[in-house]
Amino acid sequence: MRHRVFRAVVAGVFVVFAQFAFNQEAQNGGQEGAQQQVTYRNMTPEQRAAATRAFLGLGAEPDKAAAARGAPLFEQTCAFCHGPQGRGATGSSLLTSDVVLGDDHGEHLVPFLKKGLPEKGMPAFATMSDGELKDISEFVHLQVEEVANRGTYRVLNILVGSSTLGQNYVAAHCMSCHTTKTFAHIGSRFRSPEQLQRGWIWPVSSGDRSLANTASVKMPDGGEISGLVTQVSDFRITVVDGAGKANLIDRRPGVEVRMKDPLAAHQEMIMTLTNADMHNVTAYLDTLK
Ligand code: HEC
Ligand code: HEC
Repeated sequence: MRHRVFRAVVAGVFVVFAQFAFNQEAQNGGQEGAQQQVTYRNMTPEQRAAATRAFLGLGAEPDKAAAARGAPLFEQTCAFCHGPQGRGATGSSLLTSDVVLGDDHGEHLVPFLKKGLPEKGMPAFATMSDGELKDISEFVHLQVEEVANRGTYRVLNILVGSSTLGQNYVAAHCMSCHTTKTFAHIGSRFRSPEQLQRGWIWPVSSGDRSLANTASVKMPDGGEISGLVTQVSDFRITVVDGAGKANLIDRRPGVEVRMKDPLAAHQEMIMTLTNADMHNVTAYLDTLK
């Protein structure tokens, strides 16, 4: 049912506008205006978003922390065929998919993704965990929401946390890797709170040596090579040692690799964030201008 409502988005926006125009007229008309209850016009952004989602018949509100975790997974496993925001590429758009629109929090999507549609060219993701597939589902729902409930939704969701709680969270969970230097003026380094949030949840390597991926490799003859990892797979690893020499090592039996990858650890930390943590940290980092 819901997909039909979704397809009426354009009509819906028109009705909201018509109502807005009507309210304005009523207010200009004197007495009647004084009795107006809450109209779209004098709603807070939160009330507008809620009114729009009720009007459009959108389903459960997406879980934003899960969607943030799902973003890189979607990028790696789905974007190639369905486009970076699920709007379709060689594969279909997911925004109008019945499977997506009939799902609230992965209860239909997760089993669907495990099986795929091999006969139509949609792979089965049987080896991904339920948790990962649920995070991907929330990411897809967030894409639907952002298209359908545009504008209001963004304003609503970014800067709503407590910067004090965010500051406490950062002190407790982030300073094992970062120094205050990482966060100095961070609020002014991004163009919008949205990009700031993306920047800290899903950072790219900046070339900071103290946060680089390093390894120490024990060779079968007892020798040890350690340094910066520049390439790694299940079969080989390249380690640049202190003298600047790149060592390409086959990971054959007897070779022991101990890797220290702070960026992977950063991603693991992200998996433990709740919606409240995420909002609080973004609110705090945004104050560091
Ligand atoms: C190799 C390309 C490919 C990849 C990778 C892929 N898909 Fe698909 N997907 C398809 C194709 C092709 C279809 C079938 C479209 C059709 O029905 O014509 C499909 C269908 C779907 C549908 C059902 C759409 C409908 O008809 O309602 C969903 C939902 C979906 N994919 C989600 C995902 C998600 C989420 C991922 C990542 C975990 C993913 N897909 C990865 C190619 C792909
Ligand atoms: C286990 C180590 C680790 C922890 C814990 C950690 N991070 Fe990171 N973080 C990294 C690494 C590695 C990078 C990649 C940066 C690089 O290579 O310079 C990074 C990058 C970042 C960036 C981007 C920096 C830039 O200059 O653009 C931000 C912002 C950030 N982290 C915020 C946080 C916040 C907020 C927390 C706590 C909620 C946190 N990190 C916890 C390891 C960590």
